[in-house]
Amino acid sequence: MTDATAAAALTLHNALDGDESRTLAEDVRQGLARPFKELPPKHLYDTRGAELFEQICELPEYYPTRLERSILERVAADVIAATAAGELVELGSGSAAKTRLLLDAMAAAGTLRRFVAVDVTEQAVRDSATELIQEYPGLEVHGLIGDFERHLDYLPPAREPRLLAFLGGTIGNFPPAARLRFLTAVAELLRPADHLLIGTDLVKDRAVLEAAYDDSAGVTAAFNLNILHVLNRELGANFDPQSFTHVARFDEDEEWIEMRLRSDRAQTVALPAIAMDVSFAEGEELRTEVSAKFTRERVAVELEAAGLELLAWYTDPSDWFALSLARRA
Ligand SMILES: C[S@@+](CC[C@H](N)C(=O)[O-])C[C@H]1O[C@@H](n2cnc3c(N)ncnc32)[C@H](O)[C@@H]1O
Repeated sequence: MTDATAAAALTLHNALDGDESRTLAEDVRQGLARPFKELPPKHLYDTRGAELFEQICELPEYYPTRLERSILERVAADVIAATAAGELVELGSGSAAKTRLLLDAMAAAGTLRRFVAVDVTEQAVRDSATELIQEYPGLEVHGLIGDFERHLDYLPPAREPRLLAFLGGTIGNFPPAARLRFLTAVAELLRPADHLLIGTDLVKDRAVLEAAYDDSAGVTAAFNLNILHVLNRELGANFDPQSFTHVARFDEDEEWIEMRLRSDRAQTVALPAIAMDVSFAEGEELRTEVSAKFTRERVAVELEAAGLELLAWYTDPSDWFALSLARRA
């Protein structure tokens, strides 16, 4: 493909446009003023955070990526046969590495027309969009740099039966109320011919789960600590990342993994851009991510509550990860 043809096949829209630093400021103002400090996980994903996440996907302990890939290798053709999808919209697409399996199945079925990548990390959207138009001649690619909780209105109107994919277990990063809100908004986007494909990590042995979020090479620790570098850069804060320790713990009651940063000493951090000082007691923890683990029953119940119907459940032989195909009920 020539560069001119490639350019014609690629459109990019940035829904963040400066607005993101306001969101970060607001999230930090609210999240660090609470007695139990917390920040939304999307702020983990600046360019460096996205690179670290790619490294996590290669770690021996981090089974979700490998298992989701193996399930997709087995069922992508069935999913495309069942949905007749001509366009794939991926929320939180990142590097869109596993997405290629769905695009290949669409190409083989002769339905492939358009891919829409939605991610909060601008570089990931730009890089994956540019690679995909080169890899799939004739494919139209639309990159939406945006927040899937706030910018679904910016999706281009569907022109073909659409498959909306939400892979990687990212759905688990929402706490339950926000998850229902999100799934309901997604359900409202779906027309009768459209489908949703969601990847969910499943409940399993604590040791396996905790190792996946606390690898021996320390990559997940670096990913978690990166949020402090984001605050230093974006808000002029003076966090000393060396004085915080990465913590990953499975909460059996909530059935979720929590990533936290524990302050190794009593300290006060200044965030001049939002005129805020934040004190941490020695041992105090800041929650940076939850990652819910599911059962088939819970997925079906939550989909139903959002106005969706579970059509197919695909899992790996060990039942560690699942893909759910759904449509509007
Ligand atoms: C767990 S990673 C999964 C990446 C990829 N889908 C995969 O399966 O490997 C989560 C992805 O969602 C993106 N993300 C997180 N929160 C987001 C938000 N609120 N809006 C848009 N993208 C978001 C991150 O930048 C990252 O690429």
